[in-house]
Amino acid sequence: MINFKEKVIDLIIQEVDSLTRDEIAASIEIPPSYDMGDYAFPVFKLSKIFRKAPNLIAEDLASKFVNSDYFEKIENKGPYLNFFIDKSKLVETVIEEVLSKGDGFGSSKLGEGKTVIVEYSSPNIAKPFHMGHLRTTVIGNALYKIYKFLGFNTIAINHLGDYGTQFGMLISAYKKWGDKEVIEEDPINELLKLYVRYNEEAEEKPELKDEARYWFKELENGNQEAYELWSWIREVSLKEFNRVYDMLNIKFDSYAGESFYSDKMQRVLDELNEKNLLEESQGAYLVDLEEYGMPPALIKKSDGSTLYTTRDIAAAIYRKETYDFYKNIYVVASQQNLHFQQWFKVVELMGYEWAKDCIHIPFGMVSLEDGPLSTRRGRVVFLEDVLNKAVESTLEIINERNPDLENKKEVAKQVGIGAVIFQELFNQRIKDYVFSWERTLSFDGETGPYVQYTHARANSLLERGSFNIGDQVDINLLLSEDEIDIIRMIYDFPGVVMDAMEKNEPFFITRQIVELAKGFNKFYHNAQIIVEDEELRKARLLLTYLVKNTIKVGLGLLGIEAPNKM
Ligand code: ARG
Repeated sequence: MINFKEKVIDLIIQEVDSLTRDEIAASIEIPPSYDMGDYAFPVFKLSKIFRKAPNLIAEDLASKFVNSDYFEKIENKGPYLNFFIDKSKLVETVIEEVLSKGDGFGSSKLGEGKTVIVEYSSPNIAKPFHMGHLRTTVIGNALYKIYKFLGFNTIAINHLGDYGTQFGMLISAYKKWGDKEVIEEDPINELLKLYVRYNEEAEEKPELKDEARYWFKELENGNQEAYELWSWIREVSLKEFNRVYDMLNIKFDSYAGESFYSDKMQRVLDELNEKNLLEESQGAYLVDLEEYGMPPALIKKSDGSTLYTTRDIAAAIYRKETYDFYKNIYVVASQQNLHFQQWFKVVELMGYEWAKDCIHIPFGMVSLEDGPLSTRRGRVVFLEDVLNKAVESTLEIINERNPDLENKKEVAKQVGIGAVIFQELFNQRIKDYVFSWERTLSFDGETGPYVQYTHARANSLLERGSFNIGDQVDINLLLSEDEIDIIRMIYDFPGVVMDAMEKNEPFFITRQIVELAKGFNKFYHNAQIIVEDEELRKARLLLTYLVKNTIKVGLGLLGIEAPNKM
């Protein structure tokens, strides 16, 4: 696709050899509205070089740039040069690019030869997979897809919380009160009950705490009984989690969770010791971080068991050695900011230069309309229930709006789940937000169903108008304002995907496709698409196709399906 910004630079650099391309690129602005041009270049920087007032420099340059193949107009306005893209060139290049790249529109080979790890979701086994896990799961999945689309070798890791002293508690509780069959019926709820009961009884009988510690040590020591129980707990939990991942259409390349690193901890301890970073404090070991304004990182408890932080350090070293990552990304709630700052620092102090390539991608909290989500007060909202409810409610809506739709159940699934994902990815990730059923499932406004519906509408127009992808089209028929607005948004799409990658913010894509859907619906409202005039019809159908394709690619990057009918 023609890069018009590069063309602006080409022009400027011909006249101004004292600035580099990068310097020029950094100065180029996007004017607030298109009647001021597509790009603006402020000439202030040049006044020293040319020893003239900026206004005069702009005037002078504008007069030199009269004939350009890529711009229909280059105007000076005060100290600015404003560049207006040649619209037929724009339409032509967009059409060519979308038709030739199809599903790969916006993709690139930028990341070739580089490996990016995206660690996300990472729930704790034997605990509910609840609403609070939705954000890491869908943000992580979108980032995974975006990096892949840009050519990176991408690895999705689910760093399951499958280790730690709480498993000593569970093993001990199971040995006292557990019933295998009951648990297999409803694993998470039953295991949770055991856990809660154990904690309650331990308040009266402190010896239970010792027993739990004992069992965790046994697990760490490889005791057969402890190991088998733990591994069964992991298996039944994962089975439940996988139901949710299947609904979301998510697959991981690795489920190496915390337990995976249990035999890789000693090395971390030894290394920290050798590098003189470890300090003893009342029988426990830690790395002092006072100098960096942080509390110490706890590495080993006084009873000898290792900790969450230690496992993260071991995991990062393992990942570097196994995958030689270019970036190692952690999509984890902002409550864990300090945890990540601490152990990133420890890895840096250990002398690993790749510490800087470990990136924590935090996000804000989700709450429900009637209050916060809290596990302790028993207001656990299972993610699976939310997804099921979304699918059921969507099915009801379809039954009202389009009762004869084929594949109703499948479409309800695609739309219901898509709606939930879309809502999650609609805002900047760091913002806290309130989950609203009404907003999520609405077919109007800035929602997933609205965008999917626009896609389906485009599809049905293409079918009704017998669109043929090979048809020659007269570009001059696509130059009015509504059409150009749409074309511009499509032109911008690859750049938006890049921004989403660079800032690790899928919401850029979400916003772009909502705007595109709105633009298309406006066009659809103002102009008929399937018209008598064959040339006009072909041109408008082609535009419809470009929109459909871009929405589909965008939804796909977010992990959302694009049904053809709904
Ligand atoms: N299991 C943890 C939790 O549910 C999240 C793990 C985050 N990842 C990590 N490498 N620490 O809070």
